[in-house]
Amino acid sequence: MIARTARILCAMLVLFGAPVFADDAAIFKKAESTYKMFCAHCHGPKMVNPGTSSFDLRKWPKDNKEGFATSVLKGKGDMPAWGDILLPEELDLLWHYVKTRAGKEPEPFDSSQAVPPPQKDTPIEQAKAQLKTPGTLTACLAKNGGVMSSRRATGGAGMDYEVAAALAAELDMPLDVRWFESEQEEESTPIREIYALLAYEVCDIVPGFALYETSLSAFYQTRAALPRWDTKPDHLGMEFQVDLEPISVTDPYARMEMGVVYRTADLDRSIEKIADMEGLKIGVEQGTLAGVLTLRQGTEAMALDAVTLNPGPDFLWEMEQGSFDAALVTVGAYDFHKKQNFISTLALDEYRHPLGFNISVAMLGRKKAMRDVFDPAIARMIEDGTLQDLADKSQYTYAKPRQPWVQAHLTMQTIISMR
Ligand code: HEC
Repeated sequence: MIARTARILCAMLVLFGAPVFADDAAIFKKAESTYKMFCAHCHGPKMVNPGTSSFDLRKWPKDNKEGFATSVLKGKGDMPAWGDILLPEELDLLWHYVKTRAGKEPEPFDSSQAVPPPQKDTPIEQAKAQLKTPGTLTACLAKNGGVMSSRRATGGAGMDYEVAAALAAELDMPLDVRWFESEQEEESTPIREIYALLAYEVCDIVPGFALYETSLSAFYQTRAALPRWDTKPDHLGMEFQVDLEPISVTDPYARMEMGVVYRTADLDRSIEKIADMEGLKIGVEQGTLAGVLTLRQGTEAMALDAVTLNPGPDFLWEMEQGSFDAALVTVGAYDFHKKQNFISTLALDEYRHPLGFNISVAMLGRKKAMRDVFDPAIARMIEDGTLQDLADKSQYTYAKPRQPWVQAHLTMQTIISMR
């Protein structure tokens, strides 16, 4: 448990700390603590070990980063694979540690990674220099993103669209949108598509990126197909695979939560946990997190009497038509239903399930100068109510992000106990 907390903290520091690679001493300190956490117990403190039971890392060739990454991510002989555990940033830190021999030798010169002369530019100038189309911030947004994003004859609408526009204004430039069609259900934009869009530089940023541990590390060094977007060239079909790259994320700007929805406001009762819905006819959205939580955390009587339905936008229409009285659903799904259906009788309780996902803006790891501009802007917009206003305009029930920023892997234990 402590180790897990430490890991999340560590992930947060790496992801959200002020400029992580500020100076060598700071890099080394992070590299050393990452090494201690994951590797030292087998490879020895400062990589010193007798070389009998495990590999002597001081012998690893300094020019073979690729081989290092492959062995570490996929495992080797008696060494377990670290691919599911390490974040891309952590792998880079470990490589730094190994190639400098635990900080004892200077970093070897590697022309492919040669850094340009020190930049004296301001963060905003650096961020501008990283844009794919100079003078324009290009965002990828889902066409079918409910209250979060939707395309309009001119421009767009929705919370994620508004946030992208506000960030473009921060850079003092226009926003250009690539509207993409997610291959899956609305509100569940598959993470791999986002990685592919960024790696192919279809856009500079993807708002609406849910922060959970897997989404930040799982796809490093794999490939994926691109989703469809309006001006997508024909030769980039599903057989075209993009090499995914490490990504970076901003601080979150909102939180995706689950709440209890009643068929009509007069069914309202005092709810502090899911089991308090007992006595109402419950709807369960099959296969969704909200559905699983309802069955796991509700009472037995509730579960026996529940109506189970396929997930998707029809679910709330079924409630409207009287199939059941109450359900736990994502608040965004409720908002979208209300927006499309002016005469809806559905009502949202104030109760929110504690399990939620913070939403941030994703970009390529190598373009993270943008983050240094966006993070302070996001903090300011939360503080001064701008995000609340943008949410109101989008008919989205706003929730501020909550710590921990990154949701850990969901285990059955979390699903049963987090209530
Ligand atoms: C559970 C013990 C254990 C841990 C923890 C461990 N290793 Fe290893 N590692 C080994 C063993 C054993 C080998 C030798 C594998 C072989 O060649 O059969 C090895 C080999 C290696 C190699 C050489 C692989 C090759 O291709 O020859 C590298 C590089 C390496 N480890 C890096 C790491 C890093 C980085 C970490 C921390 C993320 C780490 N190891 C954590 C046990 C461990």
